[in-house]
Amino acid sequence: MSHHLLLPLVILAISPIPGAFQNSALSSTQEEPEDLDCGRPEPSARIMGGSDARPGSWPWQVSLHQSGSHICGGSLVAPSWVLSAAHCFVTNGTLEPAAAWSVLLGAHSQAAAPDGAHVRAVAAILVPRDYSGVDRGADLALLRLASPARLGPAVRPVCLPRASHRFAHGTTCWATGWGDVQEADPLPLPWVLQEVELRLLGEAACQCLYSRPGPFNLTFQLLPGMLCAGYPEGRRDTCQGDSGGPLVCEEDGRWFQAGVTSFGFGCGRRNRPGIFTAVAPYEAWIREQVIGSEPGPAFPTQSWEPQSGAWEPTDQNCSIALPECGKAPRPGAWPWEAQVMVPGSRPCHGALVSESWVLAPASCFLDPINSDGPPRDLDTWRVLLPSRPRAELVARLVPHDNASWDDASDLALLQLRAPVNLSTAPRPVCLPHPEHYFLPGSRCRLARWGRGEPAPGPNAQLEAELLGGWWCHCLYGRQGASVPPPGDPPRALCPAYQEEEEAGGCWNYSHRSLLCQEEGTWFLAGISDFSSGCLRPRVFHPLQTHGPWISHVTRGAYLEDQLTWDWGSEGEETDTQTCPPHTEHGACGLRPEPAVVGVLWPWLAEVHVAGDRVCTGILVAPGWVLAATHCVLRPGSTTVPYIEVYLGRAGASPLPQGHQVSRVVTSIRLPRHLGLRPPLALLELNSRVEPSPSALPICLHPGGIPLGASCWVLGWKDPRDRVPVAAAVSILMPRLCHCLYQGILPPGTLCVLYSEGQEDRCEVTSAPPLLCQTEGGSWVLMGMAVRGSQELFAAIGPEEAWISQMVEEAHFLPPNGYPHWPPEGSNLCPPEMARASGSPRVALFLLLLTPLIQG
Ligand SMILES: *[C@@H]1O[C@H](CO)[C@@H](O)[C@H](O)[C@H]1NC(C)=O
Ligand SMILES: *[C@@H]1O[C@H](CO)[C@@H](O)[C@H](O)[C@H]1NC(C)=O
Ligand SMILES: *[C@@H]1O[C@H](CO)[C@@H](O)[C@H](O)[C@H]1NC(C)=O
Ligand SMILES: *[C@@H]1O[C@H](CO)[C@@H](O)[C@H](O)[C@H]1NC(C)=O
Ligand SMILES: *[C@@H]1O[C@H](CO)[C@@H](O)[C@H](O)[C@H]1NC(C)=O
Ligand SMILES: *[C@@H]1O[C@H](CO)[C@@H](O)[C@H](O)[C@H]1NC(C)=O
Repeated sequence: MSHHLLLPLVILAISPIPGAFQNSALSSTQEEPEDLDCGRPEPSARIMGGSDARPGSWPWQVSLHQSGSHICGGSLVAPSWVLSAAHCFVTNGTLEPAAAWSVLLGAHSQAAAPDGAHVRAVAAILVPRDYSGVDRGADLALLRLASPARLGPAVRPVCLPRASHRFAHGTTCWATGWGDVQEADPLPLPWVLQEVELRLLGEAACQCLYSRPGPFNLTFQLLPGMLCAGYPEGRRDTCQGDSGGPLVCEEDGRWFQAGVTSFGFGCGRRNRPGIFTAVAPYEAWIREQVIGSEPGPAFPTQSWEPQSGAWEPTDQNCSIALPECGKAPRPGAWPWEAQVMVPGSRPCHGALVSESWVLAPASCFLDPINSDGPPRDLDTWRVLLPSRPRAELVARLVPHDNASWDDASDLALLQLRAPVNLSTAPRPVCLPHPEHYFLPGSRCRLARWGRGEPAPGPNAQLEAELLGGWWCHCLYGRQGASVPPPGDPPRALCPAYQEEEEAGGCWNYSHRSLLCQEEGTWFLAGISDFSSGCLRPRVFHPLQTHGPWISHVTRGAYLEDQLTWDWGSEGEETDTQTCPPHTEHGACGLRPEPAVVGVLWPWLAEVHVAGDRVCTGILVAPGWVLAATHCVLRPGSTTVPYIEVYLGRAGASPLPQGHQVSRVVTSIRLPRHLGLRPPLALLELNSRVEPSPSALPICLHPGGIPLGASCWVLGWKDPRDRVPVAAAVSILMPRLCHCLYQGILPPGTLCVLYSEGQEDRCEVTSAPPLLCQTEGGSWVLMGMAVRGSQELFAAIGPEEAWISQMVEEAHFLPPNGYPHWPPEGSNLCPPEMARASGSPRVALFLLLLTPLIQG
């Protein structure tokens, strides 16, 4: 499977730093030797979920630059030594040259140079010999500065722990850095150093969290020398760009560096605390590197005795955090449902996404005519939330940049004046991370969105089932034929739901949102798209592509990891998945995976004739079904019987209720043939059947025999229970067919040979169709059975002109395959074949023996 991204928080966020420090840098020469005091900031006074640090509170924090950009953090441990992470300097197994790096000391905001800030060149970079990769431990580095740092109030070393030093689990410590403030969300100007309080987690407690499958079903085995800090519920963490920075804990008024920021799985995700390199185990290595250097790092003696048991790995229960968002007492009672009341217009429905922010369609609020900036009368707006006694006031409206021209970005965020207390209600809905893959078959609901009407019918929240990405992509395949693999942000989500007869067969109420459930937790998965017209299923724009924008604006929306992981075969095969070719009228001949929806043959129709017999019919266009004339019209009869057509019944497992549709036939059309009654009839339906997984037209084959196709006779074993069965067949070459049935075949008849044991699968009275799956993947109709025969089929090809004329939307594929019908009156048939007439198997045997048949 293609799970790109997502793994170690390996870092490297680049924020360009103005040239301010470049020059002052290497020139400063002389340092007064000082007493090496450590871990004491001047008295006074990537980080996710943190806040600005006060100037001077973390005087050992340094920024490591390459080409003028901040790459990693570090900590000053002695006047000439900086501690950082190995992975900042090792690319592709090679240690980068020290000359490429410089160290910025004493900085607070990287946008302005305060007093005391200065830059040092790096003379050497030292990495433990056993470092081999960020997730394999020993992620530590020492940098020797070309000249000692100028110590002062803003530049002081931190204390290092001795090897025996123990930090009690549960201690709150601090991580600092200039890294991203959220995944893919860089620290904004003026790049003020961020600090975040993190709790040390015991090895067992941390391993317990990492043993639960997280993003991409990944688990992780912690290694000795790794240290965890953070919270099971996430939200506060280090992030890209914080690597190499310190995790410090205060003891007796001194700050000791417990860890070096190393990596994470995303940033601030639930059950994925940050992973640090523990510093204490490296006392010996550090001493060895800095030997002879004066003064070296300080390893003060710990003044308290570690309580025995305080750091036993068994001291904590394994308590994983559950999602804090997306819990509803029952479907329809959505605790995140927000109604935005704008004077003079109908309420606009949105969703609460955090304690302070509501997401809603921007089209509710933006005047499309006069779209110069958002409205200014926010004072009069109110937001109603469930279980809140009073309406909330609105502080700010942030429309999506692309809201006014891109349907898929019709979103705006409204900030409430005061955060609401989150409890059972109101409670925010979960939002998907960009790589979230909603599994086919997910149970979803359509909910009110924007100024949309409630859904017709008793159920105000339509129940829906998500279809596979392949089906959805191919049905709407506008953006190229290859299907995006799971884990790539999808371009569309297709939920199947019942056809709303009340709405006249075409969905006609404005917006809907799509809520999908995973393990009892609801996600806002998508918003409706109108460009799909009446095509079913309606397509929804996936919301996960907007996750970064939403979290950037809100800094606290609940982006949640994928909770269920059964990617199945669709996940395995993704790299090669493509869509069958479309015809100019759109998709045809697509068959959804049986496991996904349960419909095996979306074009198979039951044609109920005058209440006394049932024929097989095939949907060839939204308003047309093809059937065998002899089945729907009694011989000799000229009156048109009452015919009803049922679609969506050919499922292996029941669809959500209401996926079956019925139509009445308003006319029967036959081609004008001289003499014999034509074998194929087109039935015109009283209204269109819009394409859906349960009713989709088949493609039509223009003639000849498709090469490399696998072919089937599709019918019922028993016309009463009408469970669809397919019998595998091969279509015989025209000459063989001709010779076998010499003299009795009307032109344009196909004959088939059943595979071993398949002959009796379909009964013949309902006139089953012959269809093939082409090499391109589409299913094509070849013909309909002729009266009383199991082996002979009236081909579609010769009627192409007539069908296309009657049914403009008929999906004829371009010609391809074995070219033509046999020459009239061929006399090239071996004499034995006449005797074998009626037994294709014997005939085939003869064929193989007879060289005459070649060509
Ligand atoms: C990493 O090394 C491999 C083989 O040694 C090489 O093919 C690849 O191009 C290198 N990648 C980078 C980013 O240098
Ligand atoms: C672990 O959890 C159990 C049940 O929740 C509790 O009784 C026990 O005291 C906990 N142990 C520790 C060490 O917290
Ligand atoms: C708006 O659209 C442009 C161009 O398609 C895209 O680059 C940009 O990221 C979009 N903005 C947001 C916030 O998604
Ligand atoms: C929020 O709820 C908690 C617990 O229900 C309560 O203790 C707290 O006072 C509430 N805060 C506000 C601002 O209402
Ligand atoms: C949708 O419904 C509205 C009112 O119910 C109607 O005015 C409008 O014509 C309908 N649109 C379509 C495309 O059916
Ligand atoms: C998820 O991971 C678990 C444990 O590693 C494994 O047993 C399970 O099969 C995985 N599920 C999927 C869908 O990959």
